[in-house]
Amino acid sequence: MANIKFHLGEELPLEMHKVRMVQRLDLVPIERRLKAIEEAGNNTFLLYNKDIYLDMLTDSGVNAMSDQQTASMLVVDDSYAGSATFTRLEDKLKEIFGKEYFLPVHQGRGCENLLSMAYVKEGTYVPMNYHFTTTKAHIMVNGGEVLEFHKPEALDSVSSEPFKGDMDLDELKKLIEREGAGKIAFIRIEAGTNLIGGQPVSLKNYIETGEIAKKYKIPFIIDASLLADNLYFIKTREDEYKNHSIREITKILSDTADIIYFSARKLGHVRGGGIITNDESTYKQLLEMLPLYEGFSTYGGMSTREMEAMTVGLEETMDEEMINQGPIFIKYMVEELVKLGIPVITPPGGLGAHIDAMAFLSHVPVEQYRAGSLAAAFYIASGVRGMERGTVSEEREADGSDHFAAVELLRLALPRRVFTLSQVKYTIDRLAWLYENRELIGGLEFYEEPKVLRFFFGKLRPTSNWQEKLVEKFKADFGDSL
Ligand code: F0G
Repeated sequence: MANIKFHLGEELPLEMHKVRMVQRLDLVPIERRLKAIEEAGNNTFLLYNKDIYLDMLTDSGVNAMSDQQTASMLVVDDSYAGSATFTRLEDKLKEIFGKEYFLPVHQGRGCENLLSMAYVKEGTYVPMNYHFTTTKAHIMVNGGEVLEFHKPEALDSVSSEPFKGDMDLDELKKLIEREGAGKIAFIRIEAGTNLIGGQPVSLKNYIETGEIAKKYKIPFIIDASLLADNLYFIKTREDEYKNHSIREITKILSDTADIIYFSARKLGHVRGGGIITNDESTYKQLLEMLPLYEGFSTYGGMSTREMEAMTVGLEETMDEEMINQGPIFIKYMVEELVKLGIPVITPPGGLGAHIDAMAFLSHVPVEQYRAGSLAAAFYIASGVRGMERGTVSEEREADGSDHFAAVELLRLALPRRVFTLSQVKYTIDRLAWLYENRELIGGLEFYEEPKVLRFFFGKLRPTSNWQEKLVEKFKADFGDSL
């Protein structure tokens, strides 16, 4: 945040923008919320916006765009092949990341599909700091195995470790020595580890990982979807780089990797994605698959409007006053929750506030999906839609048993520049009520379960009538308040 001190000593996340376009919201009564979550099979993905007050499901494709981005969408060169819009985006990526080749795709998982098909073979390993759902699914579909080498602190919900996303390099080296470089499809670092609370990776760790990859001639791939938050954390938490500009940090980080891919639904605040590299043969190999799965090489499934807005969005990402907006709101929310004794992942990371459902619902059996239960309960209590990031988001083991997630989180995403401080305060207030009444919350069980990525469409039911009881208590406490 810009250096602004408050006379009254409060530390508030002060906005460096003003809001000039708004969207009406409704908060439906709690009886409707109870019905809506039942209709959605207790899966917040299956709720409809008309029943949602604050949508904290994700930051993906729902960040606020700037006036400059919106304006850029009016003047596009709309052609299938060779559009000037594409060239503008390609040039911007080249300027910021210093990578020569760019393959556009429709969204982040499109990159994961192409990269997994190109590199992952039956029996190969993909070591990484932490997996993301779609990444892991693509690697598994191609016969590879994901190995997570994170520091022990990565899974501690209460921590002051500034870079919980760092890769454990000793484990990485041991794997390479044991299995040989040939068995390793690629090394992946996810900037801002999504599933463990948007925790960042230090620039030192990127550099050292890159050196190991180079030494053993293994491709090093960075998933830069959550890069904006990570850049801010490098600048503000890693002493060595506090005097570097965001642009300089980005360039150093980019130079460590052979390939960078990203979901532009997060990075650049639009809808799309891309892969960049300096290696011509990699580019040519991926290019062959691009028209089959994404689109021609100058749009890759994106609209030209989105590409124009991405060019502007990427440039704006180089502005510390822009990329700080997510982290400073999250910091405020997390610190207020800590004051109230509500279990939440610390230190505050990027993407959103992550409530520790393992601790919040310690009385609910883990096989009844604590994070899923908390997401359903919180929607009923508040009309706020969060996302389960725990065992429901995992794939089952080969023998059909549940693979219990290392962490059970209710993720309350704060799409950047979207919510106001009073909306964040409302969210904190309802969480505080729910925490006081947590003993009322029970578990969930599946009654419809897809085989792959079950969290998207799976349906669950409560294991008792705990949801009705929660509604009764809410009405007793809040009277006719929504
Ligand atoms: N990598 C990371 C780190 C992500 O967070 C995501 C998406 C993807 C890849 C896939 O990108 O959605 O554009 O295909 N995360 C979203 C989320 C879905 O809600 O956290 P995508």
